[in-house]
Amino acid sequence: METRVIEVEVPGRNEVTYREVAQLLARGDIAAIPTETVYGLGADAFNAEAVAKVFEAKERPSFDPLICHLPKAAALHDIADVPPQLEGLVNRLAETFWPGPMTLVLPRKSCVPDIVTSGLPTVACRVPQHETMRGIAKALGHPIAAPSANRFGRISPTSAAAVMKELGGRIPLIIDAGACTEGLESTILLPCTDEKGKPAVQLLREGPITREKLRGICRVLHNKKKGADTTKTMPSAPGQLPSHYAPIKPLLLHNPRLPFSPEPNVAYGLISYQGDSPLARQETWSHVECLSPGSGRLAEAAVRLFAVMRAMDEREDVQVIIAEELPETGIGCAMMDRLRRAAADRS
Ligand code: TXA
Ligand code: MG
Repeated sequence: METRVIEVEVPGRNEVTYREVAQLLARGDIAAIPTETVYGLGADAFNAEAVAKVFEAKERPSFDPLICHLPKAAALHDIADVPPQLEGLVNRLAETFWPGPMTLVLPRKSCVPDIVTSGLPTVACRVPQHETMRGIAKALGHPIAAPSANRFGRISPTSAAAVMKELGGRIPLIIDAGACTEGLESTILLPCTDEKGKPAVQLLREGPITREKLRGICRVLHNKKKGADTTKTMPSAPGQLPSHYAPIKPLLLHNPRLPFSPEPNVAYGLISYQGDSPLARQETWSHVECLSPGSGRLAEAAVRLFAVMRAMDEREDVQVIIAEELPETGIGCAMMDRLRRAAADRS
């Protein structure tokens, strides 16, 4: 199959393209569509056969449900039944973080096909910030079910070129709107009640809406200890397998202040936070990539993380990737979650 690429460059002036893509989705086809977090592989959420094509193209197991992307918060009620006791909480979260990188898991309405939710009684809902995904969902008039546009278990794509490498030849269309501005997948929250019956949320996946940002908006249950391994301690969304977001080459995490003992005759590449750690100054590396050169800004590192992992994977002078452990504050928690999964044993 030939994979066509359509560029959308001018925000606010792409309505014709959005309508064309919506027509293609309405016919039961699929397309890679950008969001502010990562590129998604979208299908009409109400068309089970179209959604099946998404699972097939990604080689995704059917137990891993998809997120439904909505054009606006009011459309939530088309697919989810918000329990009365959680209405206030859900409205507050939606007003604060939508459109944006937050996904809410809520009881589903029966119009959502089983294949979207993997048969679960809940559906994952998100109003993305990116006008392309919202514009196409609006033109379609249905939610767009979309997982990240990578092969299952691999690194999420943050550019159209990365989607092409993952799924080129397997999907008919990629909408190219340049690089994603967040670079990490959305925060997934499960609104629920705490032991006293008060509204709260469970954090199912760390992401750009950090614990710090949620503070003052709602209580987050299962507060993990700082630095704890979220791949083991957090209640998990069904698709959050221990090995995930993985490069093809082995990836190991290492403390940036401690020396690394290399094996002989192995070419190591280093992913460094700022490039000035004792680890980065070691002579070991055949190549070093910095996530936030010099300035050490976690937000900049987050945007670059997946692109840098991909670049390391593609280099001929690197056989094993070493990644510096990052500070676990703010978005650093989500980055360490992804790096731990990338480093997890795949056997
Ligand atoms: O930022 C994002 O969330 C991106 C963009 C494209 O929106 N999407 C994304 O989708 O990361 P995906 O499929 O790669 O990850 C969705 C996660 C999976 O871990 C899945 O298990 C979880 O959401 N999920 C979906 N429906 C769920 C449900 N009903 N209950 C719990 N977890 C759910
Ligand atoms: Mg994914």
